[in-house]
Amino acid sequence: MSNYSIKHFEEYFQVYRKSIRDPELFWEEIAEEHFVWRKRWNSVLKWDFKKPEIKWFGGAQLNITENCIDRHLRTKGDKTAIIFEPNNPNEEALHISYKELHDRVTRMSNVLKDKGVKKGDRVCIYLPMIPELAVALLACARIGAIHSVVFAGFSSTALSSRINDSECKVIITSDGSYRGSKTIDLKGIVDDALEKCPCVETALVVKRINSEITMKKGRDLWLQPLLDQAIPHCEPEIMEAEDPLFILYTSGSTGKPKGMVHSTAGYMIYSAYTFKNIFNYKDPDVYWCTADIGWITGHSYIVYGPLANGATTLMFEGVPSYPDFGRFWEIVEKHKVNQLYTAPTAIRALAKENISFIENHDLSSLKVLGSVGEPINEEAWHWYNDNVGKKKSPIVDTWWQTETGGIMISPIPYCTPTKPTYATLPFPGIQPALMDEHGVEIKGNQVDGRLCIKFPWPSIARTIWGDHQRYKETYFTAYKDMYFTGDGALRDEVGYYRITGRVDDVIIVSGHNLGTAPIEDSINEHPAVAESAIVGFPHDVKGNALYGFVTLKETGESRVHENLRKEINQIITEHIGPIAKLDKIQFVTGLPKTRSGKIMRRILRKIAGNDINNLGDTSTLLNPEVVDDIIKGAL
Ligand code: WT7
Repeated sequence: MSNYSIKHFEEYFQVYRKSIRDPELFWEEIAEEHFVWRKRWNSVLKWDFKKPEIKWFGGAQLNITENCIDRHLRTKGDKTAIIFEPNNPNEEALHISYKELHDRVTRMSNVLKDKGVKKGDRVCIYLPMIPELAVALLACARIGAIHSVVFAGFSSTALSSRINDSECKVIITSDGSYRGSKTIDLKGIVDDALEKCPCVETALVVKRINSEITMKKGRDLWLQPLLDQAIPHCEPEIMEAEDPLFILYTSGSTGKPKGMVHSTAGYMIYSAYTFKNIFNYKDPDVYWCTADIGWITGHSYIVYGPLANGATTLMFEGVPSYPDFGRFWEIVEKHKVNQLYTAPTAIRALAKENISFIENHDLSSLKVLGSVGEPINEEAWHWYNDNVGKKKSPIVDTWWQTETGGIMISPIPYCTPTKPTYATLPFPGIQPALMDEHGVEIKGNQVDGRLCIKFPWPSIARTIWGDHQRYKETYFTAYKDMYFTGDGALRDEVGYYRITGRVDDVIIVSGHNLGTAPIEDSINEHPAVAESAIVGFPHDVKGNALYGFVTLKETGESRVHENLRKEINQIITEHIGPIAKLDKIQFVTGLPKTRSGKIMRRILRKIAGNDINNLGDTSTLLNPEVVDDIIKGAL
């Protein structure tokens, strides 16, 4: 029996039981047999969820890029590590071998070193989905710098606050990006952001769209000439197991984004082990995850997990609708993709289009289909299963979070019988618990509650950058000695889990995690706005869309609501990015509040979802009279 590669359902149970009985022995065997180390660990795990403090493989030394690149050079040097499929289908795809990846990464490492980047320094990466993005992550990891990737759809305000929070010294960006038929002026956004970022000394700029941009003297440099001059050799920095590998920001229920800090060794082991099993990757498969590397999905399952397994991973620069809605299927056929990992929102958008977009392509290479980011509804699950998988490819509905670093609950394909809308069973090493509102664990099956995890796993985020107290409060205070996920879940009669959605003030829109607070904070900056409350409502493509209830200041001026709506969405776009725009904005005379002044979002959620028959008791509100008005004016 190999714990590393699980082949059938009984074996899953055996491996799972072993991982719970003796977690240290379990993870130690995997660490020993499947990774290269510079120095062995002294202890496998030290943990205390009260502090909280979690340490895996303490005392060990390694470099993750030796595991993701160097060790493959002898046996797989010419194998394709990364396939790059450009936005424009007429531009040639690139096949970057492991040797070439080594060359590119070491050159970029040397450029960063030359700009004064040292172990522990933070580097911001704000790039489109081009090879330089993956190379930049790995180059940081090679020299021990902590990368902080900011999704290149975020606005300049969102970018500058992330850069300042972690005090990045260097930013790697590009002149612009392609997105379907449009181009985006990334460098202009960076220029705006850097006005407010004194910590950034150097901006390295990739030429991608050949646009006219301004280069600030003494700060901005074109990257390519520097790479051309750099030597393709760079000794990997020796890292401690617990040294931070990267920071990745995620939204929370208060305004400031949380910079989740991931470790080196634990993250590497968990992303690699989950990748191998959950996608059933076998050489020489071609694996494609459609996420952006700006999100955790891309970090773990485009870059680190696949490369640690010596896999071929595909990076797609474009969008599913360009040049038409057949693009995904054209890519699957062209590169003979074996595993496709995408999001319910993309599936729903594609399912609306004519089926001939699919029928025109040969999808017979597909063996595993993945879903991530939000619950996949039954209809989308069946459409994916019938039309993409032709009922032959198992669907892995993978539940996890930025904070968990890797997939936590998921079927293992060709092992776990799947069930539509169910993420099914915990991965080896993961101990879920469902809790009631009094903090008591709900045992047994056919129950539902709040999803917690009882025991640490190797890739759990170790802290929030610069704010360990917030880390403790957000994840380890609601339930004693447990990590709280923020999600609700149910466990069916056989023990399968189904994630029912967030139980806090986070809304998942098109698979993106959006906090209500930062959106409300930005709306409230509009001079005419007094107060606002954002809730989610069901949307057939996005899963959830945003509904804003807004009260206006009494200025005596009359304002055209349609203009105000535009201005509010403009502010949101500037502060956060277009992904956080509101679908509906209703101007109201007051927001329903409790006597202690807390906005009753529950009522607003029901009104937004057109479920007004059971609003519950509204008589205890401070201002019950506003509810009828809101219902009458609902959009
Ligand atoms: C939240 C985490 C993990 C990468 C992408 C999102 C929701 C994620 C599923 C799923 C139901 C899911 C949860 C979770 N979520 N995957 N398969 N089924 N819900 O990462 O931005 O950190 O968001 O996404 O609500 O808590 P994230």
